[in-house]
Amino acid sequence: MLYNTAPDALFTPQTAVDPLGFGKVAVVTGCSSGIGLAVTQHLLAHQFQVCGLDMAAFDYNLVREADHGRFHFHRGDLTAPGACEEGVRICVAAYGPRIDVLVNVAGLMDNFSSADAVTDDLWDRVLAVNLTVPVKMMRAVIPFMRAKKDGCIVNVASTAATSGAVAGVAYTSSKHGLIGATKNVAWRFREEGIRCNAVLPGGIDSSIGNVIARGEQKEVDGVSSPVHALQTKPSVSAPMITPLEVAKTIVFLISDQARTISGVSLPVDKAWGVV
Ligand SMILES: NC(=O)c1ccc[n+]([C@@H]2O[C@H](COP(=O)([O-])OP(=O)(O)OC[C@H]3O[C@@H](n4cnc5c(N)ncnc54)[C@H](O)[C@@H]3O)[C@@H](O)[C@H]2O)c1
Repeated sequence: MLYNTAPDALFTPQTAVDPLGFGKVAVVTGCSSGIGLAVTQHLLAHQFQVCGLDMAAFDYNLVREADHGRFHFHRGDLTAPGACEEGVRICVAAYGPRIDVLVNVAGLMDNFSSADAVTDDLWDRVLAVNLTVPVKMMRAVIPFMRAKKDGCIVNVASTAATSGAVAGVAYTSSKHGLIGATKNVAWRFREEGIRCNAVLPGGIDSSIGNVIARGEQKEVDGVSSPVHALQTKPSVSAPMITPLEVAKTIVFLISDQARTISGVSLPVDKAWGVV
């Protein structure tokens, strides 16, 4: 199988050389499943050289054989000391000293614990994966982007980055924090050719989204359920959002069509965020 998402995932660019990605290098965290996998597949389809980072194994069958030469995977826990810097070093060793794009996708859901119940372990882990890792990844790639006065960063946040009613305190805080980091990077590097944006997916047809949809997360206060019911009960007229649809929005944000867009938090949620 070429792609594992929706039928329209078979999209391939019409031109022999795709100006969007040809000769450019992208780093994608969380590349082994869900949104990160779809982003990896979509960037490869646009001829980027992609360095994928994930703590889970990568199934190379999910990447076209023709793309294998432009895909480098490194397995490791990005919360380990020095792991983000090591991932970037490995990318530079594979493709040379240029990084055009960073997509921070790796993330961890919490168990809906409220502030009076969250454990130290859960808080530390969720904040480390969802907030500290993206900031360290940005710290590691920005010198390469500043050197060229060109670069695009997209951070995958969540509806929980702007709503207090869709996750626990750890996940909600981590994603709110990621929006702050996104805005700060966008502002501080606005005159150095670096754009930084966030996407806010709603309920996505991926492992995290499906866990929520199956109601397997422990709900502590009963507040989350009606809010989630608005997003996670797919119907024929309103199917769940696919990882590829999120990937396409991310590719739009890194494209020239979005060259004046920086510091935004773009919902990909079929209006769930307006609730
Ligand atoms: N699925 C949804 O409904 C949804 C909604 C909003 C936001 N998001 C966000 O989208 C992103 C991707 O979600 P998904 O549904 O594709 O999840 P997923 O679980 O399918 O993929 C997440 C990937 O991140 C990797 N990862 C987690 N911790 C890591 C670490 N410490 N080091 C390296 N890799 C690590 C996992 O191994 C996994 O491959 C997350 O940031 C999530 O918060 C998802």
